[in-house]
Order: sequence, then C-alpha cells, then structure tokens
Amino acid sequence: MFRVGIIVASDKGAIGERVDASGEVIREIMVENGYQVVDKVIVPDEMELLAKQMEEWTDRNEIDLILTTGGTGFAKRDVTPEATKSIIEKEVPGFSEVMRSESMKITPKAMLSRGISGIRNYTLIINMPGSPKAVQESLGFILPALDHGLKILVGEASECAR
Ligand code: MTE
Repeated sequence: MFRVGIIVASDKGAIGERVDASGEVIREIMVENGYQVVDKVIVPDEMELLAKQMEEWTDRNEIDLILTTGGTGFAKRDVTPEATKSIIEKEVPGFSEVMRSESMKITPKAMLSRGISGIRNYTLIINMPGSPKAVQESLGFILPALDHGLKILVGEASECAR
C-alpha cells in the first residue's frame, strides 16, 4: 500500500479562516483507490514552508506520494510549483500535461494551472489545482498510471509488462 501525504497550500486554511475541502476530497479518493493517507497538512502559501514540508517527508522516506492542492495559479502568492521545483531532482511532466490537457475538455481555465510534478529521493510529488472540483477531476486522469509509476520508483517493478 503506497503512503500518501497531502499538502494543502492555503493562507486562509493555515490560520483557520477556511475549512479545507480539497484535501479531504484527495483523501477520500486515494483511500477508495487503495492508498494509505498517512498525513495531511495545511501550509500557508510560502515557498520556504512548502519546500520544507516536502523535504521533510521525502528525506525521511515517510511518504511515497505527495499530492499538493492549491497555489498553482497566477496570484502573487501562488508559489507551490516554485517550491516543488526547488526541491525535486527529476521532473515528471506527464502527470501535469495530462491533467491540463484532459481538464481542458471540461474548462478552458485548466490552462491557468502552472502545476508541476517531480521526484525527490523515492517520492513522487504532484501539484494539483486548489478547488475540490479540480482535484476530483485531475485525480481521475492520473490514477490509471500512478500505481505503476510508484512501483517502479520504489523498486517493486522494473519492467513494463504488456
Ligand atoms: N482543472 C480542472 N480539472 N478543473 C478546474 O475547475 N480550475 C482552474 C485550473 N485547473 C480547474 C482546473 C482554475 S480556475 C485555476 S485559477 C487554476 O487551476 C489554478 O488553481 P489554483 O490557483 O487554485 O491552484
């Protein structure tokens, strides 16, 4: 069972002014799909704090998959992709490409998400947009290949059997 950590990037959520809905949508969907959600944290939209949280989970090898929600848009304080970029070792463009292109069939606003994905140590990190609707849609597009990617990442699979 792969271990999932959820990071909700939200200034208002971090000070208790907004109840997190998107992180809970991620939790529900991942549990339904056989993943173990080990932690969820709400972090303000601060590059250093977001990067530190990702580093902690990846360097202690506590989490196989970090799913972030929020902070991927155009607002001044949207810095989740920059925080992610600052700590990953390899980019994994496919997840973000598919989330944007498939989401474009639902809303043209999908092109406004700057989310990226990448690998640090043995952890995959995927940025998702901030709304519960966007999270639900985006996860649906990437779940079919996620398990196989994680198996290769943690060394449980080495071949892509047809
Ligand atoms: N992707 C999907 N699938 N569905 C959506 O409703 N909303 C978009 C986009 N991606 C959306 C989506 C909108 S309106 C914005 S502004 C960007 O994600 C960035 O969102 P964020 O700043 O909350 O991360």
